[in-house]
This record gives sequence, structure tokens and C-alpha cells, in this order.
Amino acid sequence: MISQVNSANTLAELENIKVNFLGKKGVLTLEFAKLKDLQGEEKKEFANTLNKARDEFNQAYQVKLKELEEKALNEKMKQNVQDFSFFDETSNLGALHPIATTMDKIIEYFNSLNFSIEKGPLIEDDFHNFEALNLPQNHPARDMQDTFYFEDKTLLRSQTSPVQIRTMLSQKPPIRMIAPGAVFRRDFDITHTPMFHQVEGLVVEEGDKVNFANLKDMLENFLKYMFGDVKVRFRPSFFPFTEPSAEVDISCVFCKGCGCRVCKQTGWLEVLGCGVVDPNVYNFVGYKNVSGYAFGLGVERFAMLLHKIPDLRSMFEGDLRLLEQFR
Ligand code: DAH
Repeated sequence: MISQVNSANTLAELENIKVNFLGKKGVLTLEFAKLKDLQGEEKKEFANTLNKARDEFNQAYQVKLKELEEKALNEKMKQNVQDFSFFDETSNLGALHPIATTMDKIIEYFNSLNFSIEKGPLIEDDFHNFEALNLPQNHPARDMQDTFYFEDKTLLRSQTSPVQIRTMLSQKPPIRMIAPGAVFRRDFDITHTPMFHQVEGLVVEEGDKVNFANLKDMLENFLKYMFGDVKVRFRPSFFPFTEPSAEVDISCVFCKGCGCRVCKQTGWLEVLGCGVVDPNVYNFVGYKNVSGYAFGLGVERFAMLLHKIPDLRSMFEGDLRLLEQFR
């Protein structure tokens, strides 16, 4: 019996052997039954032998049981095992969206220049989105952006510029920040979607340390980092919260400045707005004796120019034929 136990290969086999030996009609059970016909010394001796046989069997059984249970578990694990080599080439791995990679590239640049990353709410109030940015009620410049309003005078922020105000209200200069995030406008055509992303930038120092030349130098380096070997030009412009203000163009990445359909034969593409912070803005946040510059850019526009994507709307359609090119 013990040798049978030792050579059992499966748990079922082992169980069978146990039943044959110790079950109701098992060999040993039947031997135990004979005890009732015996007396005295003879009975005692026979009982000892049977008990010994039963103990030996149980001992061998327990050892084998543990061994076979382990074996069964190992086999089960082998069946469940994942073959990771299977995923090597055949799987359909996703990719980061071009808006995300462009955003990352921009953030990485300013991060390396020690700019902090600030956030503000998407649902803004009139004070942060307009008034404190030097856009009083009924000022015509409010029409520069088609804003989504709620009934209670809150609105979907139309620009990331309100994060400038929130940051200046909660921190003291020096400030070096960018604010990446979504913005909303009532607009929809080949170059506009109702939701898009901007990155705002703001630098404020005490005294008169910061001027337009610093802004120009910083943005030129940034645009060359983003677009490589391009020419950069600053055009006078107007934003209510900067004075002087400028719009910045790069030489067209499609035609290298020769003139094409995308740059409307001008050789230039507008990429961002910027300027020296208007002193009026400091009055709203209680800053005195400071100087600073600000800029704002559209992330989708950057992504379109970086990847030569002609229609802004395709960024939001989730068409796999477009997306899988960015794997
Ligand atoms: N907020 C402006 C817009 O959405 C962009 C902008 C222009 C931001 C000039 C700035 C700036 O910080 O200085 O059109």
C-alpha cells in the first residue's frame, strides 16, 4: 500500500488508494473488523500492527498529498500563464494624440527654464476672464472672442489669460509661469473649433528688470526649439492686457517662406500673441513697482504646423487613419 501511495501520479489516484485502504470496505478497515473475534494478548498485538500500518499509511499519504497538490497548482499556473511575446508586434498599441505631444513639448521647454505650471477653472467669471485683464464691461475688445456665457454671468473661459490674474492674486513676484489648458469659443470652421487648447505665459519681476527685448529673445529661442530653422518676426498688434502688444509670425513651414496657399502667399504664419503687461492689470491684482511680459499661443495651431495637418477639425474626429500615423 505504501509503495502504491508513493507511486501515485494524480490526486484522484491517491484518493482511490486511500479509499481502497481506509474506506468503508477498505483492506485495513476489514482487518480492523476482525479484531472483534480476537481476545487478550492476541487482540492487543494485532491491534498494534493495524494501528502501526494505519499511521504509516497516513504519514506517506500526507507527504504524497502535499507533493501532488503542488504539482497540480504548478500545472494550473502554466496553463494560465500569459505569453507576453505574443504582444510584440501584432497588438494594436495606441499612441499619444498630436495635441498631447505638442503640449508636452511646449511644457518641457518652459519647465527647463524653471517656469511653474499653473491651473485655473474652465468655468470662469467675468472678473478673471475680462475685467482684470483690462477689459471693462461693454469694451469693444470683448468681441475679439465669441464667448459662451451662462445665465448667471459665469462663462466658459475664452482664453488661458485669466490664469495670469489668478496666479498674481495668489503669489508675489517674481513670477515665471505657464498655464496650459482648454479654452472655449463660439466658432467652428476649418481653422476654429469650439474647444481648443492654449498655453499662456507670464513673467513678472520687481522693479523694471523685464522689458520687450527679454520677451523677444525668449520667444525667438522658443519658436526655434519648436519649429527648427525658421525666421521669426514681431508685428505690432493690440491686446487689452499688454502694451505694447505684438503678434509673432514664423516663416511658413510649408513653403519655407516662398509663398503658398497655407500662408496666403505671404511666406509668414502667425503663431502667437504677446506683449509687455499693461500697468492697468497690476492695479487689479495689487502689484506695485513691477515689470513683466506675457504671451499666449494655440496648441492645435502649433500641432497643425508641426505635423502639416491642414484641417483643425480633424484633430477632434478620432479618425484612426490620422491617429495611427503618430504611433
Ligand atoms: N489671450 C489671447 C487670445 O486668446 C492671446 C494672448 C495674447 C495672450 C497676448 C497673452 C498675450 O498673454 O500677451 O487671443
